[in-house]
Amino acid sequence: ARTIAVSGSASGIGETLAGQLRDQGDTVIGIDLRDADVCADLSVPEGRASAVAETLDRAGGRLDGVVACAGVSDFTIMPVKVNFFGVVGLLDGLRPALAAAEAPRAAVVGSISGTHPVDDDVVRHCLELDEPAAIAAATKVEESGYGGQLYPSSKSALAQWMRRVSVTPEWAGAGIPLNAIAPGVVLTPMSAPLFEDEGMVEVMKEAVPMPLNGFAGPEVIAEALRWLVSPANTHMTGQVIYVDGGAEAVLRGPSD
Ligand code: NAI
Repeated sequence: ARTIAVSGSASGIGETLAGQLRDQGDTVIGIDLRDADVCADLSVPEGRASAVAETLDRAGGRLDGVVACAGVSDFTIMPVKVNFFGVVGLLDGLRPALAAAEAPRAAVVGSISGTHPVDDDVVRHCLELDEPAAIAAATKVEESGYGGQLYPSSKSALAQWMRRVSVTPEWAGAGIPLNAIAPGVVLTPMSAPLFEDEGMVEVMKEAVPMPLNGFAGPEVIAEALRWLVSPANTHMTGQVIYVDGGAEAVLRGPSD
Protein backbone atom coordinates (compact mmCIF):
# COMPACT_ATOMS: atom_id res chain seq x y z
CA ALA A 1 0.00 0.00 0.00
CA ARG A 2 1.10 3.57 -0.63
CA THR A 3 1.39 6.28 2.00
CA ILE A 4 0.15 9.73 1.02
CA ALA A 5 0.32 12.92 3.10
CA VAL A 6 -2.65 15.25 2.58
CA SER A 7 -2.75 18.75 4.06
CA GLY A 8 -6.12 20.35 4.69
CA SER A 9 -7.45 16.86 5.44
CA ALA A 10 -10.06 18.04 7.95
CA SER A 11 -12.36 19.77 5.47
CA GLY A 12 -13.52 20.17 1.89
CA ILE A 13 -11.28 18.94 -0.93
CA GLY A 14 -8.56 17.55 1.36
CA GLU A 15 -11.07 15.62 3.47
CA THR A 16 -12.75 14.20 0.35
CA LEU A 17 -9.41 13.20 -1.17
CA ALA A 18 -8.27 11.54 2.07
CA GLY A 19 -11.48 9.47 1.99
CA GLN A 20 -10.98 8.44 -1.64
CA LEU A 21 -7.37 7.43 -1.00
CA ARG A 22 -8.29 5.39 2.08
CA ASP A 23 -11.09 3.72 0.12
CA GLN A 24 -8.56 2.54 -2.48
CA GLY A 25 -6.35 1.10 0.28
CA ASP A 26 -3.77 3.83 0.71
CA THR A 27 -2.50 4.98 4.08
CA VAL A 28 -3.23 8.68 4.53
CA ILE A 29 -1.35 11.00 6.86
CA GLY A 30 -3.72 13.92 7.31
CA ILE A 31 -2.28 17.31 8.22
CA ASP A 32 -4.48 20.17 9.45
CA LEU A 33 -4.95 22.68 12.24
CA ARG A 34 -7.16 20.15 14.07
CA ASP A 35 -8.93 16.81 13.58
CA ALA A 36 -5.90 15.37 11.77
CA ASP A 37 -3.13 12.79 12.24
CA VAL A 38 -0.65 15.66 12.32
CA CYS A 39 -1.98 18.88 13.84
CA ALA A 40 0.09 21.89 12.85
CA ASP A 41 -0.27 25.50 11.76
CA LEU A 42 1.15 25.79 8.25
CA SER A 43 0.95 29.61 8.31
CA VAL A 44 4.17 29.89 10.32
CA PRO A 45 7.69 28.41 9.87
CA GLU A 46 7.64 26.57 13.24
CA GLY A 47 4.30 24.95 12.37
CA ARG A 48 5.61 23.83 8.97
CA ALA A 49 8.73 22.39 10.60
CA SER A 50 6.68 20.40 13.12
CA ALA A 51 4.29 19.23 10.37
CA VAL A 52 7.25 17.99 8.32
CA ALA A 53 8.97 16.32 11.29
CA GLU A 54 5.81 14.54 12.48
CA THR A 55 4.81 13.45 8.99
CA LEU A 56 8.29 12.06 8.30
CA ASP A 57 8.18 10.27 11.62
CA ARG A 58 4.79 8.67 10.88
CA ALA A 59 5.83 7.78 7.33
CA GLY A 60 9.10 6.21 8.43
CA GLY A 61 11.11 8.51 6.16
CA ARG A 62 9.50 7.33 2.91
CA LEU A 63 6.41 8.87 1.31
CA ASP A 64 4.67 7.86 -1.93
CA GLY A 65 2.69 11.04 -2.31
CA VAL A 66 2.06 14.53 -0.96
CA VAL A 67 -1.02 16.60 -1.79
CA ALA A 68 -1.15 20.14 -0.41
CA CYS A 69 -4.82 21.14 -0.11
CA ALA A 70 -4.71 23.35 2.99
CA GLY A 71 -5.61 26.91 2.12
CA VAL A 72 -7.47 30.02 3.19
CA SER A 73 -9.34 32.62 1.18
CA ASP A 74 -9.85 35.60 3.48
CA PHE A 75 -8.88 39.16 2.56
CA THR A 76 -5.88 39.30 4.93
CA ILE A 77 -2.22 38.31 4.50
CA MET A 78 -3.08 34.73 5.55
CA PRO A 79 -3.35 33.39 1.96
CA VAL A 80 0.29 34.40 1.39
CA LYS A 81 1.37 32.59 4.55
CA VAL A 82 -0.73 29.44 4.09
CA ASN A 83 -1.40 29.07 0.34
CA PHE A 84 2.12 29.93 -0.76
CA PHE A 85 4.70 29.56 2.03
CA GLY A 86 2.71 26.84 3.78
CA VAL A 87 2.64 24.73 0.62
CA VAL A 88 6.24 25.40 -0.39
CA GLY A 89 7.53 24.71 3.15
CA LEU A 90 5.62 21.44 3.34
CA LEU A 91 6.67 20.21 -0.10
CA ASP A 92 10.31 21.19 0.34
CA GLY A 93 10.41 19.51 3.74
CA LEU A 94 8.80 16.28 2.55
CA ARG A 95 10.64 16.07 -0.79
CA PRO A 96 13.54 13.92 0.49
CA ALA A 97 11.01 11.34 1.74
CA LEU A 98 9.33 11.38 -1.67
CA ALA A 99 12.69 10.87 -3.37
CA ALA A 100 13.11 7.70 -1.30
CA ALA A 101 9.91 6.13 -2.71
CA GLU A 102 9.55 3.99 -5.82
CA ALA A 103 6.85 6.02 -7.63
CA PRO A 104 6.63 9.33 -5.77
CA ARG A 105 4.09 11.98 -6.77
CA ALA A 106 3.13 15.45 -5.55
CA ALA A 107 0.30 17.85 -6.26
CA VAL A 108 -0.95 21.21 -5.07
CA VAL A 109 -4.27 23.04 -5.35
CA GLY A 110 -4.16 26.25 -7.33
CA SER A 111 -7.20 28.25 -8.37
CA ILE A 112 -8.88 29.88 -11.33
CA SER A 113 -8.26 33.07 -9.36
CA GLY A 114 -4.55 32.71 -10.15
CA THR A 115 -5.56 34.17 -13.53
CA HIS A 116 -7.13 37.28 -11.90
CA PRO A 117 -5.24 40.53 -11.14
CA VAL A 118 -2.48 40.04 -8.61
CA ASP A 119 -0.06 42.21 -6.63
CA ASP A 120 3.27 42.00 -8.46
CA ASP A 121 5.43 42.81 -5.41
CA VAL A 122 3.83 40.08 -3.35
CA VAL A 123 4.22 37.53 -6.16
CA ARG A 124 7.85 38.55 -6.77
CA HIS A 125 8.84 38.25 -3.09
CA CYS A 126 7.06 34.90 -2.89
CA LEU A 127 9.04 33.61 -5.87
CA GLU A 128 12.23 34.91 -4.23
CA LEU A 129 11.15 32.79 -1.24
CA ASP A 130 11.57 35.88 0.93
CA GLU A 131 8.73 35.44 3.40
CA PRO A 132 9.34 38.57 5.53
CA ALA A 133 9.39 40.73 2.37
CA ALA A 134 6.28 39.02 0.99
CA ILE A 135 4.45 39.53 4.28
CA ALA A 136 5.51 43.20 4.39
CA ALA A 137 4.25 43.75 0.83
CA ALA A 138 1.03 41.85 1.58
CA THR A 139 0.44 43.88 4.73
CA LYS A 140 0.60 47.05 2.63
CA VAL A 141 -1.95 45.61 0.20
CA GLU A 142 -4.24 44.57 3.06
CA GLU A 143 -3.98 47.98 4.73
CA SER A 144 -4.78 49.83 1.52
CA GLY A 145 -8.04 47.91 1.21
CA TYR A 146 -7.03 45.55 -1.60
CA GLY A 147 -6.76 42.43 0.55
CA GLY A 148 -8.97 40.62 -1.96
CA GLN A 149 -5.96 40.53 -4.31
CA LEU A 150 -3.88 38.49 -1.90
CA TYR A 151 -5.66 35.18 -2.53
CA PRO A 152 -5.14 35.40 -6.33
CA SER A 153 -1.56 36.58 -5.67
CA SER A 154 -0.88 33.55 -3.47
CA LYS A 155 -2.28 31.13 -6.05
CA SER A 156 -0.50 32.78 -8.98
CA ALA A 157 2.81 32.62 -7.09
CA LEU A 158 2.15 28.99 -6.20
CA ALA A 159 1.47 28.02 -9.82
CA GLN A 160 4.62 29.83 -10.99
CA TRP A 161 6.77 28.25 -8.26
CA MET A 162 5.37 24.83 -9.11
CA ARG A 163 6.16 25.21 -12.83
CA ARG A 164 9.68 26.39 -12.05
CA VAL A 165 10.72 23.71 -9.61
CA SER A 166 8.87 20.83 -11.27
CA VAL A 167 11.54 20.49 -13.97
CA THR A 168 14.60 20.80 -11.70
CA PRO A 169 16.92 17.97 -10.66
CA GLU A 170 15.24 17.93 -7.22
CA TRP A 171 11.81 17.09 -8.69
CA ALA A 172 11.79 15.83 -12.29
CA GLY A 173 15.38 14.65 -11.90
CA ALA A 174 14.40 12.65 -8.82
CA GLY A 175 11.42 11.13 -10.65
CA ILE A 176 8.77 13.16 -8.80
CA PRO A 177 5.94 14.61 -10.91
CA LEU A 178 4.61 17.88 -9.43
CA ASN A 179 1.39 19.42 -10.76
CA ALA A 180 -1.50 21.65 -9.74
CA ILE A 181 -5.25 21.28 -10.04
CA ALA A 182 -6.86 24.70 -10.39
CA PRO A 183 -10.57 24.58 -9.53
CA GLY A 184 -13.24 27.12 -10.32
CA VAL A 185 -15.84 27.41 -7.56
CA VAL A 186 -16.09 24.28 -5.41
CA LEU A 187 -18.88 23.61 -2.92
CA THR A 188 -16.98 23.30 0.37
CA PRO A 189 -16.99 25.05 3.75
CA MET A 190 -14.57 27.59 2.21
CA SER A 191 -17.07 28.79 -0.39
CA ALA A 192 -20.21 28.24 1.72
CA PRO A 193 -20.40 31.81 3.08
CA LEU A 194 -20.56 33.12 -0.51
CA PHE A 195 -23.74 31.14 -1.09
CA GLU A 196 -25.54 32.82 1.81
CA ASP A 197 -25.83 35.97 -0.30
CA GLU A 198 -27.89 35.85 -3.53
CA GLY A 199 -26.11 38.92 -4.91
CA MET A 200 -22.74 37.30 -4.23
CA VAL A 201 -23.74 34.16 -6.15
CA GLU A 202 -24.48 36.32 -9.21
CA VAL A 203 -21.13 38.12 -8.86
CA MET A 204 -19.38 34.76 -8.60
CA LYS A 205 -21.12 33.41 -11.69
CA GLU A 206 -19.78 36.40 -13.64
CA ALA A 207 -16.28 36.27 -12.19
CA VAL A 208 -15.99 32.49 -12.60
CA PRO A 209 -18.23 31.40 -15.49
CA MET A 210 -18.61 27.59 -15.44
CA PRO A 211 -20.62 26.61 -18.55
CA LEU A 212 -19.90 22.91 -18.02
CA ASN A 213 -22.10 21.70 -15.15
CA GLY A 214 -21.74 24.80 -12.94
CA PHE A 215 -20.22 24.83 -9.46
CA ALA A 216 -18.28 21.65 -8.70
CA GLY A 217 -18.42 19.22 -5.80
CA PRO A 218 -15.15 18.49 -3.98
CA GLU A 219 -15.12 14.88 -5.23
CA VAL A 220 -14.30 15.81 -8.84
CA ILE A 221 -11.32 17.92 -7.72
CA ALA A 222 -10.21 15.08 -5.45
CA GLU A 223 -10.49 12.57 -8.32
CA ALA A 224 -8.15 14.67 -10.45
CA LEU A 225 -5.66 15.01 -7.60
CA ARG A 226 -5.91 11.27 -7.00
CA TRP A 227 -4.86 10.57 -10.59
CA LEU A 228 -1.98 13.05 -10.43
CA VAL A 229 -0.49 11.23 -7.43
CA SER A 230 -1.22 7.74 -8.76
CA PRO A 231 1.53 5.51 -10.20
CA ALA A 232 -0.20 5.91 -13.59
CA ASN A 233 1.10 9.47 -13.87
CA THR A 234 4.61 8.85 -15.14
CA HIS A 235 4.96 11.82 -17.52
CA MET A 236 2.76 14.76 -16.57
CA THR A 237 4.62 17.43 -14.61
CA GLY A 238 4.67 21.21 -14.23
CA GLN A 239 1.04 21.51 -15.33
CA VAL A 240 -1.75 23.65 -13.97
CA ILE A 241 -4.85 21.66 -14.84
CA TYR A 242 -8.08 23.62 -14.68
CA VAL A 243 -10.96 21.55 -13.35
CA ASP A 244 -13.28 24.50 -13.53
CA GLY A 245 -16.32 23.83 -15.71
CA GLY A 246 -14.67 25.75 -18.55
CA ALA A 247 -13.99 28.98 -16.65
CA GLU A 248 -10.36 29.29 -17.76
CA ALA A 249 -11.26 28.71 -21.41
CA VAL A 250 -13.99 31.37 -21.17
CA LEU A 251 -11.84 33.93 -19.34
CA ARG A 252 -8.62 33.52 -21.33
CA GLY A 253 -10.16 32.67 -24.66
CA PRO A 254 -8.99 30.17 -27.26
CA SER A 255 -5.52 31.69 -27.93
CA ASP A 256 -3.43 28.53 -27.29
P1 NAI B 1 -11.82 24.19 3.30
O1 NAI B 1 -11.86 25.47 4.06
O2 NAI B 1 -13.01 23.31 3.30
O3 NAI B 1 -10.56 23.34 3.76
C1 NAI B 1 -9.30 23.91 3.93
C2 NAI B 1 -8.57 23.20 5.05
O4 NAI B 1 -7.27 23.82 5.21
C3 NAI B 1 -9.29 23.32 6.41
O5 NAI B 1 -9.44 22.04 7.01
C4 NAI B 1 -8.37 24.20 7.20
O6 NAI B 1 -8.36 23.93 8.60
C5 NAI B 1 -7.02 23.91 6.58
N1 NAI B 1 -6.10 25.00 6.89
C6 NAI B 1 -6.34 26.33 6.75
N2 NAI B 1 -5.32 27.02 7.27
C7 NAI B 1 -4.42 26.14 7.74
C8 NAI B 1 -3.19 26.26 8.43
N3 NAI B 1 -2.67 27.45 8.74
N4 NAI B 1 -2.52 25.14 8.77
C9 NAI B 1 -3.05 23.93 8.49
N5 NAI B 1 -4.23 23.75 7.87
C10 NAI B 1 -4.90 24.84 7.51
O7 NAI B 1 -11.45 24.64 1.82
P2 NAI B 1 -11.46 23.85 0.43
O8 NAI B 1 -12.48 24.48 -0.42
O9 NAI B 1 -11.44 22.40 0.63
O10 NAI B 1 -10.04 24.32 -0.15
C11 NAI B 1 -8.96 23.43 -0.40
C12 NAI B 1 -8.03 24.10 -1.37
O11 NAI B 1 -8.74 24.37 -2.58
C13 NAI B 1 -7.51 25.45 -0.89
O12 NAI B 1 -6.15 25.57 -1.23
C14 NAI B 1 -8.34 26.45 -1.66
O13 NAI B 1 -7.67 27.68 -1.84
C15 NAI B 1 -8.53 25.71 -2.97
N6 NAI B 1 -9.66 26.18 -3.76
C16 NAI B 1 -10.94 26.14 -3.29
C17 NAI B 1 -11.98 26.62 -4.05
C18 NAI B 1 -13.39 26.61 -3.58
O14 NAI B 1 -14.26 27.21 -4.26
N7 NAI B 1 -13.73 25.97 -2.46
C19 NAI B 1 -11.74 27.15 -5.39
C20 NAI B 1 -10.37 27.14 -5.81
C21 NAI B 1 -9.37 26.67 -5.01
